[in-house]
Amino acid sequence: MNNEALKCILTRRSVRSFSGQSIGREELEKIAEAARLAPSAKNSQMWKFTVLQNKKLMKKLASVIAAQLGRGDDYDFYAPDTLIIVSCERDYAYNREDCACALENIFLAAHSLGIGSVWINQLNGICGVPRIREVLTELKIPSSQDVYGMAALGYPAEQAATVEKKEGNVEYIY
Ligand SMILES: Cc1cc2nc3c(=O)[nH]c(=O)nc-3n(C[C@H](O)[C@H](O)[C@H](O)COP(=O)(O)O)c2cc1C
Repeated sequence: MNNEALKCILTRRSVRSFSGQSIGREELEKIAEAARLAPSAKNSQMWKFTVLQNKKLMKKLASVIAAQLGRGDDYDFYAPDTLIIVSCERDYAYNREDCACALENIFLAAHSLGIGSVWINQLNGICGVPRIREVLTELKIPSSQDVYGMAALGYPAEQAATVEKKEGNVEYIY
C-alpha cells in the first residue's frame, strides 16, 4: 500500500510488552503535537496532556491505582517507557469524546514512529479518590480535570498480537 496514513491506521495494534529503550524527547514532542491537534467539539481543547517519563512517579501512580482496584503490588501499566495521561475538564460535555480522539492520534503518531502503545483505562471513574487525586495533583493535573484515558508507550519488545476484527458491521446505502 502506498498510502502511508492508511497503512499506519490499518497496521496499528495495541502493544503490551515494551523493550527498555527510552523514547527521545523529539519523538515525544511529535506525539504530543499529534494529540494537541486532534479534533475537539467546537474546538474546545479543554484537555491536558501529561507526558510522564519519571519512573518513580509512574510507580507511585500505579501503586495508588492498584490499591484502589485491588490489583497486585506489581501492577505497572505493562511497564512502558512513557505514559501520556489525557485529562480534561470534568464539567465539559464532550470530555470523553475529545480525549478519545486525542488518544487515537497518540496511538497512530506513535506507531508511525515505530513506537508501540496501548490505552490504559484504569483511572476511569476513580480520579476523585483522595489518595489518587493526591498523585494527580503532584503530576500537575488540575483539580477541575479527570483522566479519560492514558497511553502507555514504548518500543515494542515483540510483535503485537493479531486480534480478530469483526466483519459485517459496515452497511453501504446508496
Ligand atoms: C476505551 C478503551 C479502553 C481500553 N482499555 C484498555 C486497558 O485498560 N488495558 C489494555 O490492555 N487495553 C485497553 N484497551 C485496548 C483494547 O483492548 C484494544 O484496542 C482492542 O483489544 C483491539 O486491539 P487493537 O488495539 O490491537 O486493535 C482499551 C481500548 C479502548 C478503546
